[in-house]
Amino acid sequence: MIQIGVNIDHVATVREARRGGEPDPLRAAHDAILGGAHCITVHLREDRRHINDDDVTRLRDLVERTAGVKLNLEMAATSELIGIARNVRPHMCTLVPERRMEITTEGGLDVVALRNELADGVAQLKDLGMIVSAFIDPDPEQVAGASKLGCDACELHTGPYAHAFSAAGGDFLHKPVQRELERVRSAGQAIVERRMRFHAGHALNYHNVQPVAALSDLAELHIGHAIVSRAIFTGLREAVAEMIALMREAAAPNT
Ligand code: PXP
Repeated sequence: MIQIGVNIDHVATVREARRGGEPDPLRAAHDAILGGAHCITVHLREDRRHINDDDVTRLRDLVERTAGVKLNLEMAATSELIGIARNVRPHMCTLVPERRMEITTEGGLDVVALRNELADGVAQLKDLGMIVSAFIDPDPEQVAGASKLGCDACELHTGPYAHAFSAAGGDFLHKPVQRELERVRSAGQAIVERRMRFHAGHALNYHNVQPVAALSDLAELHIGHAIVSRAIFTGLREAVAEMIALMREAAAPNT
């Protein structure tokens, strides 16, 4: 059954707007889980602009007490972050590129060009028993590169698909939308053929999620901004439950 990882970074972004104690990402995680989240995702950025080290530790404690829910730590493969993962032991680490000035993660990690820099980090995380996922562009060479590195999963970047969807005014049959979706579908099949888990995410929302959720063999979607935005009006529990309902309605029967 298709699963959802809910990214709660933006809850911490609101907290940091006043450098105060609320809203607490821990409470958000709790509500997301009550809404049906299978995984809580946070990105511990180098500049700690939203989620901080203490949040990650407290979230780890929460998921430990919540059977069947994973903690997914999005991180750059730096020695600092690998050291934090070693201490905190999230269930999954998703390796992402990180540029200081970016608003959000832009583009996938180039696991082909960075093969030598990444190899040791991936091996260390795997030795610690974590699921290692790479956030990559939907490109067969990147899939092959992630497989060579020994990644357990690839999260395909759905940003270009979402952008095409929006540019077409939500017309799913528009050629550029179909082209971007096909890139995700075929890279997804390459992931499965290489015996990795097929994940996808970035810029997915309540309008564009279903064509992606319908792809065969998709195991997980990772969604943040749209869910936290809707939660302002509906509450997080409801926002997560609505997204799961859309995903399940669309999902391939045996996914
Ligand atoms: N997956 C990855 C690797 C990300 O970096 C992000 C953004 O933090 C997401 C998924 C979620 O993207 P969005 O907030 O656009 O749903």
